[in-house]
Amino acid sequence: MALTIAVAGKGGTGKTTVAALSIRYITEVIRKSVSAIDADPNASLGMALGVTVEKTIADLRDDVIERRMGIPPGMSKEAYIEYCIEECIIENEKYDLLTMGRPEGPKCYCYVNNLLRKYMDRVGNSYPYVVIDNEAGMEHLSRRTTNNVDLLLLVCEPTIIGVVSAQRIIKLASELPIIVKEKAIILNRVTKDGLSPAIQNKLDEFGMDVSLSIAYDHEIYDAASNGKSLLKIHEQNETFNAIGNLLRNYINVEVMSK
Ligand SMILES: Nc1ncnc2c1ncn2[C@@H]1O[C@H](COP(=O)(O)OP(=O)(O)O)[C@@H](O)[C@H]1O
Ligand SMILES: [Mg+2]
Repeated sequence: MALTIAVAGKGGTGKTTVAALSIRYITEVIRKSVSAIDADPNASLGMALGVTVEKTIADLRDDVIERRMGIPPGMSKEAYIEYCIEECIIENEKYDLLTMGRPEGPKCYCYVNNLLRKYMDRVGNSYPYVVIDNEAGMEHLSRRTTNNVDLLLLVCEPTIIGVVSAQRIIKLASELPIIVKEKAIILNRVTKDGLSPAIQNKLDEFGMDVSLSIAYDHEIYDAASNGKSLLKIHEQNETFNAIGNLLRNYINVEVMSK
C-alpha cells in the first residue's frame, strides 16, 4: 500500500507549498515515485511543480456528460470517463500528477469526487507514496476520498483565526470515518518575533503541539512571484529541508526505503 500524505488547512496558508516541497523531497532525496493529487478546486499544485495542466477531472466530466462527446458504442458514460482519466494525468519521470479542477454544481462535485476516490483506490497499490493537496476544508476526507491517511500535514497561519481554523479541521477529521495515523501541525510564515502569548495560549488551550514552524521565506515568495517551480529553488533552502526533516521524523525510515 502507498504511504498517503494529505495536506490540509485554510486557503492561503501554504498547503500547496508544503505539498510541492514534500513531493520534491520524496522524489529527489528519498528517491521514490509519487502520485501527486491536486484535490483543491483552486488548482495550483501543477504550477508549483512547474507543469502545465491541460485537463482536469472536472473538464473530463463536462466533456463527456454535458457535451455528450463520443462515447464508444457499448460503453457506459461512467466506464468511458474512468478510461479517459489517464488523459488528465501528467506523467513525469519522478511523479504523476492528477488535478481535480473546479466542479460546478454540488452534484457534479460529488461525481468528480467519486472519480477521484476510485482513482486513488487504484493508485494506492502502484505508487510507494501519494501526496494530496486538499482543499481548505477536508471535503475529500469527509467523502472518504482519502480513507487512509498515514500523515496529515495541517498547515496553519500563526494568528488566532488560523489556530481556530486548524482546530476545526482537526475536530472535523476526528469525527469522520477515516483513519489518520499521524498528524503534524505546521505553522507557516512565523515572524522573527515568534508567537504572541495569545497564540501560544490558544494552541495550549486546544492541546495543539506544533511540529514545525516555518519562517517567511523570500526564495519561496520569489518563486511564486516569478511563476518559478518549487522544484527549482535551492536545494539548501531552509524550508525545503525543514519539511524533509519533518517527513523523516514521522515516516519510519524503513518504510521510506521500501
Ligand atoms: N513560508 C513562506 N514564505 C513566503 N511565502 C510563502 C510561504 N509559504 C507560502 N508562501 C506563499 O504564500 C502564497 C500562498 O501559499 P500556497 O501554498 O499557495 O497556499 P494554499 O495552497 O494553502 O492556498 C503563495 O504565493 C506562496 O508562495
Ligand atoms: Mg493551494
